[in-house]
Amino acid sequence: MNIVKLSDLSVAEINELVDEAIAFKNGKKVDYHLGKVVANLFFEPSTRTHYSFDMAAGNLGCRTQNFEASNSSLTKGETLYDTCKLFESIGCDALVIRHKEDDYFEQLKGLNIPILNAGDGKGNHPSQSLLDLVTIKEEFGSFDGLKVVIVGDVKYSRVAHSNYDVMKRLGMEVYTSGPVEYKEEGYNFVDFDDVIEDMDVVMLLRVQHERHGDTSGFSKEDYHKKYGLTLERYNKLKDSAIIMHPAPVNRGVEIADELVESDKSRIFTQMHNGVFARMAMIHKVLDNE
Ligand code: CP
Repeated sequence: MNIVKLSDLSVAEINELVDEAIAFKNGKKVDYHLGKVVANLFFEPSTRTHYSFDMAAGNLGCRTQNFEASNSSLTKGETLYDTCKLFESIGCDALVIRHKEDDYFEQLKGLNIPILNAGDGKGNHPSQSLLDLVTIKEEFGSFDGLKVVIVGDVKYSRVAHSNYDVMKRLGMEVYTSGPVEYKEEGYNFVDFDDVIEDMDVVMLLRVQHERHGDTSGFSKEDYHKKYGLTLERYNKLKDSAIIMHPAPVNRGVEIADELVESDKSRIFTQMHNGVFARMAMIHKVLDNE
């Protein structure tokens, strides 16, 4: 099986993955993936996703191969499909793939190896959504009725697209906010300042300059003042509210520098939980083979 979009999974399957990740965090061990090989194929830059998939595979007893796009036969014109087919042919058991094209996995239908999507363009980021859900479940115990606002470059964000859909399916009340240039058609769009006091989760996003260039015309200071989590906005949050961000963070833009590690911030907890969420994903696809 593949995990390329959470929308392919039922709510029950998503809840099972969240609970499995929490079980791994609490010490669950599996020993039957020893010797399996997971290839990490990052055709687009990554720090968190790449190295936490690598850590997750190692924790399950797998070996990993880490592909370097800039030093590969891609530079000689080899296609995405042929590159992935190579890793299948040399004996890998699963592929973790990030690529800049939306739905790149549609080109890989001829492969006979599980694919874990580590991010496709502005489309999907299932492992990020899963680690976000793990972080929320740990904090609140359940999802139903929680209020979430996703703030920033929603239109070009695969994190926003994955989360908006899955959070709604899990019963959360999901809002988006930020510059109108980055508003996603059909999404519930609000003024950040109108809702901040009621939110359980504030999820901040980086402006995805690499996908569109800077079209907003805002200076960093302007953006921070109008749409960022300033200290003033932080002080309006409910006592129980948490702040999330998929990272990398632009300190002083979408969030004030001093708030990145504040009491309500779960940004580094998200990164920690990413290892367990990815263990659950790798375990699920290898277990299905
Ligand atoms: N959150 C996230 O996907 O980070 P990386 O781009 O560093 O993997």
